[in-house]
Amino acid sequence: MRQATRSRSALMSYLASATAAPSVHNTQPWLFHPHREGIDVYADRDRQLAVIDPDGRELTLSVGAAVFNLRLAMMRDGRLPQLRVAPDPDAPDLLARVVPGGPVRPSATVLALAGAVTRRRSNRGPFADLAVPVRVREELVAAAAAEGAVLVMTGPGGRRVVLGMVTDADRYWCADADYRRELAEWTRPAPGRRDGIATAALGPRSDTLPLRDLGLTRPDAVRPTATFEETSTIAVLYTADTPAGWLRAGQALQRVLLTATVRGLSATLLTQSLELDRLRDRLSDPATGRAAQAIVRFGFSRQTPAASARRPLSDVLTTG
Ligand SMILES: Cc1cc2nc3c(=O)[nH]c(=O)nc-3n(C[C@H](O)[C@H](O)[C@H](O)COP(=O)(O)O)c2cc1C
Repeated sequence: MRQATRSRSALMSYLASATAAPSVHNTQPWLFHPHREGIDVYADRDRQLAVIDPDGRELTLSVGAAVFNLRLAMMRDGRLPQLRVAPDPDAPDLLARVVPGGPVRPSATVLALAGAVTRRRSNRGPFADLAVPVRVREELVAAAAAEGAVLVMTGPGGRRVVLGMVTDADRYWCADADYRRELAEWTRPAPGRRDGIATAALGPRSDTLPLRDLGLTRPDAVRPTATFEETSTIAVLYTADTPAGWLRAGQALQRVLLTATVRGLSATLLTQSLELDRLRDRLSDPATGRAAQAIVRFGFSRQTPAASARRPLSDVLTTG
């Protein structure tokens, strides 16, 4: 009986960790099926963004971030997780099975990353004009490598190119009526709403940095225009361009974001340009087969951004 109670509370803590993951437009496009062996993680296709994510790439990254948190929670609990990617060819939406394996002593890194899961938040405000120390940049690169991905920290030239592409994409998307309709759906406030981007999380307007204007369809939301840092630290995350590569990218992204949190860094994703093939292809490298999966801005901020709500666990459980 005691064992059963323990397993239930362990399961709840695994799922709470998984659902704290970031997701595109806070769609939380995941479903979990706990069973005797472990936890099956499904894509919730009803929450896929048809306009900006017709292939489900960003959906899969989001699920990958949740899978990383699930693995991390198991490790913190002293269980070595075993991950099976796409374990059933007859169930294409079953993206991963995570099985808590034999006992393992959680490392200091695991404890630190697990402790950062609920502190990590997307920060869309201005950052200080301070360089990210080289040692921390190397740690972020190593965090991505530990999950089989490549994180490239851009220099001044690369940053200009990448931000130029994001600006280009931003202009394209803001002029697209379907984009605005989709964005409006995920930023429309409603009493008790626990997904999408809340008004408090929209962030200020920026004249200089091409952050995604999540308040584009919210003229009613009062948002100041802020002065942003002049030299942002911009990184691009790469993996193979397959569904398995996308899931890997999501896990690597989350490990990078949690590592940043542990080191006192804030982060924002700017993924607009990767939602247009013509721009995404320019950032990808056919020689290595690597494709750009995420663009992240890092920096220091004194502001604690508003937390974005998550759906209750009862909404994300499925029987498979
Ligand atoms: C694949 C992916 C793409 C994202 N793209 C953007 C983006 O372009 N702009 C942005 O501000 N946030 C972006 N986000 C962050 C989400 O909006 C954020 O994770 C979600 O609203 C939940 O908030 P939280 O990160 O504070 O928990 C992205 C997240 C993921 C996983």
